[in-house]
Amino acid sequence: MFKKETTAKTSKKSASHSETKSAPFEIKLATAAKTPADVLVVLSQQKKKGADSSVAIAHAEVAKSVTNSVADKTITGKHKETVLFREKNFNGYNHLLIAGLGAEDDTEKFRQTATVILRALQTMKVKSAHLVLDGVTSKNALRGLAEGFVLASYKFDELKSKPKKTDDAAGGLVVTLVSKKFGDKTSQKTFSDAVTLTETVNFSRRLGDLPGNLMTPTILADSVVEAAKGTGLKVTVWDKKRIEKENMGGLLGVARGSVEEPRFIIMEYNGGAAKSKPIVYVGKGLTFDTGGISIKPSGAMEEMKYDMCGGANVIGAVLAIAKLKLKVNVVGLVASTENMPSGSATKPGDVHTARNGKTFEVNNTDAEGRLILADALSYGTELQPALMVDAATLTGAMVVALGNTHTGFFTRSEAVRKKVLAASEASGEWVWPMPLVDFHNDDIKGTFADLSNISSSKGAGSATAAAFLENFVGEGIPWAHFDIAGTAWAVGNRLNYCSPKGASGAMIRTFVELAKLHKA
Ligand code: BES
Ligand code: ZN
Ligand code: ZN
Repeated sequence: MFKKETTAKTSKKSASHSETKSAPFEIKLATAAKTPADVLVVLSQQKKKGADSSVAIAHAEVAKSVTNSVADKTITGKHKETVLFREKNFNGYNHLLIAGLGAEDDTEKFRQTATVILRALQTMKVKSAHLVLDGVTSKNALRGLAEGFVLASYKFDELKSKPKKTDDAAGGLVVTLVSKKFGDKTSQKTFSDAVTLTETVNFSRRLGDLPGNLMTPTILADSVVEAAKGTGLKVTVWDKKRIEKENMGGLLGVARGSVEEPRFIIMEYNGGAAKSKPIVYVGKGLTFDTGGISIKPSGAMEEMKYDMCGGANVIGAVLAIAKLKLKVNVVGLVASTENMPSGSATKPGDVHTARNGKTFEVNNTDAEGRLILADALSYGTELQPALMVDAATLTGAMVVALGNTHTGFFTRSEAVRKKVLAASEASGEWVWPMPLVDFHNDDIKGTFADLSNISSSKGAGSATAAAFLENFVGEGIPWAHFDIAGTAWAVGNRLNYCSPKGASGAMIRTFVELAKLHKA
């Protein structure tokens, strides 16, 4: 039996409350069910018009035993439908659960189907289930189900003094996907890669969900060092002194107001040929954004603990690439600091110098993400990357433009645009191309320094932020900027495997697909 445990490693240093001892959720893949479990789960599918029956149930014996429920339309095969037969006592299983797939079978549907199955099992308070995959043959279905189960099993309750072990906890539950067709090596790899990837997404989600007092730049860097152990990743962490030596005036300028030291995190993975240029991933690791002296209004300010999700997700992407042993060279760069008001904080009008020598006026201290990314992109440029991408919760304007459905991305390169769209198609994460033209660069010219960190005109705030970043990307380097302000957290309204209030891990899966495409 092929078995993968799905517990993400947690850093002891980052939160002492994390000593909850409930058993982890487990997902396995097996070719046969030897001993029955508590629940038998069978998939149902809506059939095309004109077929004998409107619903196909992927288990001949089960299909025979539920004909009445099909006839009275209790079972329709509709996507995300679950019909539970308690105490069915079928072939040694106590309960029977029938879960609908709908009519088409794209990978995303399988992720969401896995989630409704897991939620049904959680409310049943059972310990084991077999999901028989008769009739399911595609690797995408296997991948979607595995990804969905692991993503849906994530729960952030470690800060409660008495975490609920009942209701909605997946801890201690074992789900086995049973299929004769998936006994081969490639299927097993599809399955284990899906589990590895989504466990890493869960790892990053936790970094995002931890509050600012438990997720400082120092703790973030320590968590990376800890998580990288045994992965073949080289992690280097620069402290404040080193950051000063490295002329990172943007990162230092933002960090001035905080008692917490900034960190610059460098993750290196060499899975490709020695001479092959790396993909550089850059993340905004703002562990708490108060706005600084241009302080934010207090309503929902607590959400600004998520301002490090770009960094957390770059960390997740690079960790996953290393764990999946992709044949590509990658570097992850995360600039991390708090943005606080204090007597030593940067004031509106202050001028700082970025690593590449360009100067900028800080006309609004709340537009800080672009300042720390300026140094990270400058450093990334020095690595002569084949491709550089960054992820950042950069602008409220992005949320206005695209809400929480799509991550907006900016690039001037048609080739990069195509690559990003292909990666997003493969990952199932929605992205949307946004405009970036010279007009946007005109808007962020400085009066007293080279640049201003806010636009001189109204509107297109996400594009002018992207234009600011472009000043720190070397000529000719293929680059795309991803503004995840609307998708980094609270997307559970449309993605049932994300928590309604928690971090989502947005763009980790897409960034991993970008690395896969690069190798090809
Ligand atoms: N971290 C915020 C952007 C943000 C806001 C992300 C809301 C997610 C939800 C960023 O640092 C910021 O405050 N940007 C300002 C820029 C403005 C002052 C030009 C913004 O968007 O208001
Ligand atoms: Zn801000
Ligand atoms: Zn911010």
